[in-house]
Amino acid sequence: MDTMRWQDDHLLLLDQTKLPLVEEYIECWDHIILCDAIKKLKVRGAPAIGAAAAFGVALAALNYTGEDPGEFEAEVKQAIIDLGKTRPTAVNLFWALRRMAAVLADIRTYSVKQQQERLLAEAKAIFDEDRAMNEQMGQYGLELIPESAGILTHCNAGALATAGYGTALGVIRAAHHAGKEISVFADETRPLLQGARLTAWELMQDGISVTLITDSMAAYVMKQKLVDLVIVGADRITANGDVANKIGTYGVALAAKAHGIPFYVAAPASTFDLSLATGQEIPIEERDAEEVRRVGESITAPPGVPVYNPAFDVTPAELVTAFITDRGVFRPPYLESLRAMVETK
Ligand code: MRU
Repeated sequence: MDTMRWQDDHLLLLDQTKLPLVEEYIECWDHIILCDAIKKLKVRGAPAIGAAAAFGVALAALNYTGEDPGEFEAEVKQAIIDLGKTRPTAVNLFWALRRMAAVLADIRTYSVKQQQERLLAEAKAIFDEDRAMNEQMGQYGLELIPESAGILTHCNAGALATAGYGTALGVIRAAHHAGKEISVFADETRPLLQGARLTAWELMQDGISVTLITDSMAAYVMKQKLVDLVIVGADRITANGDVANKIGTYGVALAAKAHGIPFYVAAPASTFDLSLATGQEIPIEERDAEEVRRVGESITAPPGVPVYNPAFDVTPAELVTAFITDRGVFRPPYLESLRAMVETK
């Protein structure tokens, strides 16, 4: 199953809100459909959001039917602004939009048609590069995985969250393909159940052993010595190594520390935001209260009960054993190693 696929002149997007029961693609013909899909988590996961947004910019460019370069530029810039307002936490979104904006700025003297082609080519490159980065990350991560390992993961950092293969699940996939005996514990990940609906589904499809647990079981499973290491993905990593990821990740990291279990974060270079000094500066998305008052369509709380629904939390750098990236494995002190990582190419 592809997370998204460019087909002739539009984007097909797998609707992740319907998984695992229904496998349905949405046809995206303009960037407005994509903005809605990103907000509603039809496409989600930091790298996938970035790639989808890049295609959104390409769609805005392709939909321009005039010949006025000034008007064309204004429309594409407006699409970049609209897409940038969809979700605030995953930096990959802004990274991809900046890349598209840089191309636009570079090719202003070209004909509208040439600019359209160039913007679509850039979106395709962002997509292709993400998949390649994930495969590379999987290879670098191999050295950290014992021949036989219980691995706990939170949320979905798999093929569905990326252009393919996955970040945290990419490392798990690589270990599985290398013949290691892997058994995964997938936190269900309340409130939207990305772990239950997506991670469990992906791993089962690949024939990788997976056991679903509720979020509140993670510490107990660690205490029972069923977990050798934790691997999660990330939405934004700051210069000091603080990590924003799906709500609940911080609790998993604390539990791992308490049990002496390594806690790894797998993320491509596009997830690192070294312009921010610490995780305190990361904008954390707050989502609709109804997501917490319900499980799917079922109401599970008194109507109108006040709710706090941050979609992400920040795990402090001191709880992260190492970062697995497409440029290698990086360990503390992060201020130096992450800077070096960004400079490595
Ligand atoms: O709200 P979501 O589903 O977009 O959150 C996704 C996560 O938090 C993932 O763990 C993160 O984006 C890493 S994806 C490779």
